[in-house]
Amino acid sequence: MITDSKTIIVSNRLPVKITEENGAYVLSPSEGGLATGLGSIYKNGNNIWIGWPGLEVPPERQDEVREKLAGLNLVPVFLSNEEISLYYEGFSNEVLWPVFHYLVTYANFEQAAWDYYKVVNDKFKAEVLKQLSADDVVWIHDYQLLLLPCLIRTVQPEITIGFFQHIPFPSFEIFRLIPWREELIAGMLGADLLGFHTFDDARHFLSAASRLSSSNLLDNVLIYKNRQVVVEAFPMGIDADKFDSLTRHEKVAKYTSSFKASLKNVKTILTIDRLDYSKGILQRLQAFELLLEQHPEYTGKLALYMVVVPSRDTVPKYKELKDQIDQLVGNINARFRTINWVPIHYFYRSFSIEFLSAIYSTADICLVTPMRDGMNLVSKEYVASRTADDGVLILSEMAGASKELNDALIVNPNNIGDIKEAIVKAINMPLEEQNRRMRSMRAIVSKFNIHLWVKNFMDKLNEVKTMQKSLHTK
Ligand code: F6P
Repeated sequence: MITDSKTIIVSNRLPVKITEENGAYVLSPSEGGLATGLGSIYKNGNNIWIGWPGLEVPPERQDEVREKLAGLNLVPVFLSNEEISLYYEGFSNEVLWPVFHYLVTYANFEQAAWDYYKVVNDKFKAEVLKQLSADDVVWIHDYQLLLLPCLIRTVQPEITIGFFQHIPFPSFEIFRLIPWREELIAGMLGADLLGFHTFDDARHFLSAASRLSSSNLLDNVLIYKNRQVVVEAFPMGIDADKFDSLTRHEKVAKYTSSFKASLKNVKTILTIDRLDYSKGILQRLQAFELLLEQHPEYTGKLALYMVVVPSRDTVPKYKELKDQIDQLVGNINARFRTINWVPIHYFYRSFSIEFLSAIYSTADICLVTPMRDGMNLVSKEYVASRTADDGVLILSEMAGASKELNDALIVNPNNIGDIKEAIVKAINMPLEEQNRRMRSMRAIVSKFNIHLWVKNFMDKLNEVKTMQKSLHTK
């Protein structure tokens, strides 16, 4: 049985990152949906998680880091600054990320970045092979490791490999712009099961794979090199019970009451994102500005709490975005503030989960308006934290989560007027309507949680493997 064997999770980043403080290495949780989502899974049994610890570690200190991580079931892949710059910042975040989020003009198709992408995927392969036994299951995550399934399959033809992509997969017309498109598809087809957040992402992949590889397509199965590769949608969930019970934690209650005391009849809108141009932060600020312009009656009565978590700030487009956000927030605050009221409370930092829980459970409105997003777990975390069934979620139709959370106020993130109208509607929404919508979203987030997501993916992988074996013995 696959479920009894060791699972090796592989992703670019480990769920904890190492930073250096006064010469000592310190561990802290990594940002992003993947780390939060799978955090509670890899600790089970003898499962392990292989990934990059987040900084360059000199060779003489690598054993120290390896030991520190071993106790947490984590195995590091060490990357040099050059590899980080070309594979991570370069190919992953200056080619794949912008193209997969439909911002093709942001892409920088540099040959050296592609070369390093191959080198680092190979490095990950070496570490996986070191840890691998014949009946293990390898579960690879995300766009930084698209070549890894095939690299492992070439050495271990029978091994069970699942791959899940956490970001959107673009339409063929966009994907084909990448000079190394065939190699990327061949890399992914090394997996037995390929999972995406939405049906549309899976459909886009099937279309690209059937045009760019010698494979035959039968429904959602590609017959490739005499193997069946199954492609399916698995919308990722969160640990909903954890977010629900966190709201009753002593520390959270303290934050919540001091937060409420500081608000004094001010309605709050919350936004939380990693620093990223795909998140629609500037457009959302413009919508808020339009609202203040057209509705002076909200002066002193409404505040936007905007948390931007630092991310990839060594990539030029991210640096630029940070400057633009700083400037726009400054302009809006300078234009609309009064002596005792500021419209935007802007934080450029990360917060503890307890603090996040307090702001999730206090904010009247949560505004999630990415231009394009694989799933968006923030929207689900907000819903899971609303234990009183109140609050309003405004959600972009471009986020995978909008396919499940139909009771949010769904907006087009490019339509500033639409976002502004949704905020007005949210401010004035009667409590009964909030309760009805929130209850139905909470039921969905609670049922389709992270545990069910892992189970569904693993059960399917097991089924695919069994099907492959039975077809081969016929
Ligand atoms: O969810 C998409 C993703 O790119 C993950 O792969 C990653 O862990 C997270 O966002 C944060 O990004 P980064 O690792 O580049 O900081």
